[in-house]
Amino acid sequence: MMQEITLRRPDDWHLHLRDGAMLKGVLPETTRHFARAIVMPNLVPPVVTAKDASAYRDRILAALPAGAVFEPLMTLYLTEGTDPADVAAAAAGGLVKAVKLYPAGATTNSHSGVRNLDAVMPVLEKMAGIGLPLLTHGEVTTPEVDIFDREAVFIDTVLDPLRRRLPELRVVMEHITTAEGAAYAAEGGPNLAATITTHHLIINRNHILVGGIKPHYYCLPVAKREHHRQALRKAATSGAPCYFLGTDSAPHVDALKEHACGCAGCFTATNTMPLLAHVFEEEGALDRLEGFASLHGPAFYGLPPNEARIRLVKHEAPQVFPAKILTEAGPVTVFDPGFPVHWHVES
Ligand code: DOR
Ligand code: ZN
Repeated sequence: MMQEITLRRPDDWHLHLRDGAMLKGVLPETTRHFARAIVMPNLVPPVVTAKDASAYRDRILAALPAGAVFEPLMTLYLTEGTDPADVAAAAAGGLVKAVKLYPAGATTNSHSGVRNLDAVMPVLEKMAGIGLPLLTHGEVTTPEVDIFDREAVFIDTVLDPLRRRLPELRVVMEHITTAEGAAYAAEGGPNLAATITTHHLIINRNHILVGGIKPHYYCLPVAKREHHRQALRKAATSGAPCYFLGTDSAPHVDALKEHACGCAGCFTATNTMPLLAHVFEEEGALDRLEGFASLHGPAFYGLPPNEARIRLVKHEAPQVFPAKILTEAGPVTVFDPGFPVHWHVES
C-alpha cells in the first residue's frame, strides 16, 4: 500500500546560504521544499549590522529561482562591537528575526565572534526587552575541553548562567547534539527552544570515523555517541514544541571538504524532508513530523505557519537523490544517509 502524508510547507530554522556563486547554486535546493529559512550570518565578512542584513537579503532575493516563493529571515552576527540601537531598529522594522552568538573560534568564520559575554550584555539586555531571540552556537572553545564535551560544558558554564542573569532573554539552542542539550531545552520554559538537524538524527561519531574518515559527515558540533543520537530522535519525535527543525545545511565545495583540514558542514538541503519522513516513520511518529518541521518553529518566532502544503509519498523503490549539486563555485556533495530512502516529496 502506498503511504503518503501531507504537511504544511516546512521552514528551516537554521540554514547557511552563503553568497555569490554558492548562494545561486544552493538556494533552489532549499526553496524547492521550504517556505522560509533563518539565514545564518557567518559570511566573510559577517553580517553584523542592519545595513549588512538588508544588503544580504537583497542578494538572496535576487538569486531566487524563477517562480520560487521563499522568505529569507535574516539574522545578525553578534560581535563585541554590536550596537544595541542598530539591533533594535533592525528588529523593529521586521528585517531581522534573531541574533547569532558564535563563541570566537567555535566554527566556520567565527573569529569575529564573542570572547567575553560581559562585552555584549547591553545588546542582550536590549534583545531581552524587545523579545528578539538569541541563537547560540553552544560550544565552548577552551582548548582544554574535549571537542565531544564542548556542548555540555557550554550549557553549564555559559548558557545556564546567562539565562539566570537574563531570564527574559529568548534563546534558541542551535543544532543540539547531546542528551544534555535535549534535556536542558525541555526544562527551559517558554523562552527556550532547540533546533535539531537532520544529520544528527542519522549519524553518530562512528559514522565519521569507522572504516575510514568521512569528511562529508564532519560538522560542528560534531556528531556524538549513539545514546545522544537516540536522545535527539526521542526529542525531535516527541511532539514537544521546544524542538524544531534547523537543518544547519552548510555547503562547502568538495575540494574544501576532502582536504587535509576539511571544513565543517553537512549539506542536507536537497534531501532533508525525505530523510525526516524516514526517521519519523522509523520512530513511529510520522504524525509528529508536521509539528517538528512546520509548526513549532513559527510558534516560537511568533509567525503564522505556512498555508501551502507539501506531500510526501513512500515508494516501493528507493528514491534517487543527486550525489552532488554542481554550483558555479564547484561541486557540493549531498548528505548520504547510508541507507535506502523510499520517501519523496511529490508536490
Ligand atoms: O558544521 C558546521 N558548518 N557548523 C557550523 O557551526 C558552521 C557551519 C558552516 O558555516 O559551515
Ligand atoms: Zn550553522
